[in-house]
Amino acid sequence: MAEFSLPKNSRPVDGKVWPKPQGSNNLKEFRIYRYDPDGESNPRIDTYWVNRDDCGPMVLDAIIWIKAKIDPTLTFRRSCREGICGSCAMNIDGTNTLACTKGMDDIAGTVRIYPLPHMPVIKDLVPDLTRFYAQHASIEPWLHTDSPAPEKEWRQSREDREKLDGLYECILCACCSTSCPSYWWNGDRYLGPAALLQAYRWLIDSRDEATGERLDDLEDPFRLYRCHTIMNCANTCPKGLNPAKAIAEIKKMMVARQV
Ligand code: SF4
Ligand code: SF4
Ligand code: FES
Repeated sequence: MAEFSLPKNSRPVDGKVWPKPQGSNNLKEFRIYRYDPDGESNPRIDTYWVNRDDCGPMVLDAIIWIKAKIDPTLTFRRSCREGICGSCAMNIDGTNTLACTKGMDDIAGTVRIYPLPHMPVIKDLVPDLTRFYAQHASIEPWLHTDSPAPEKEWRQSREDREKLDGLYECILCACCSTSCPSYWWNGDRYLGPAALLQAYRWLIDSRDEATGERLDDLEDPFRLYRCHTIMNCANTCPKGLNPAKAIAEIKKMMVARQV
C-alpha cells in the first residue's frame, strides 16, 4: 500500500552538531541521516566536518573518517571500496549511488547523505534489503538446462556472449530499484528494475533452456508490467547500466511469443 507522507515518528529532526576538527581550514560539511532502532526518538540529521587534508577523496573515505575520528556509532555498509560489491549504496546529494566511487569534489557545498529511499531502515545508513534479495532469488538467477551436462563446460559463441554485456556487470546495489517510483508504490508486487535486468540476463543467455518458463513467471500485471518507463533506474545506475531497456526487451519477448 502506497504511503504519501512519512508518519510523524519517522520524520527526521535536527540532530547533533559535532565540533569542527582543529588545525585545518580545509573542511567539508556533512549532514548525515541517523536512526537508532533501540531508542524512541525520531531519526535525526547530524552535522559533521571532515578534515580533507587528512582524508581520501571519496564520500566513503569521509564517512570512514567520521566513524574513526568523530563518531564511532555512525553505521553503514561497505566492503570492496572499488565499486564492485554494491554494499555502500546510499542517497548522496539527492542521488542513489555508491559512496566509494562518488568523489567529494563532485559535490558543491554540504554533502547530504540518507539511506536508499523507500526501504525500511535498520540503522543509520543501512537499509533492510531482505525483500530486494528475495525478488532477485525469485527470478532463479542461474542456468536452467534439460540437456545432458557437457563433459567440460556449457559453450557459448563470442556473439552470444556479447549479448550479456550491459547486464552481467550489475552488482545488485539496489540504487535503481530504490529510485523507481513504481517500485516505491508497489515494491511488494513489482519486481523492480534490478531483478528484471537480472531476469533478462538469463532470458537471453544462449545456454539457458527455460526461456518459456521464465517468461511465464513474469507474465503478470505487477511483476513486470508496473514499469512505466520513467527511466530513473537508467539515470541513477552507478555502473552505467540500463534496466529500463532490459525491461523493454522482456516486454518485446512477451509480444513475440504471442504472434
Ligand atoms: S542495474 Fe545498476 S543500479 Fe541496478 S542493481 Fe544493478 S548495478 Fe545497481
Ligand atoms: S523505467 Fe521502469 S524500472 Fe526504470 S525507473 Fe522507470 S518505472 Fe522504474
Ligand atoms: S564498498 Fe563495494 S561498492 Fe562501494
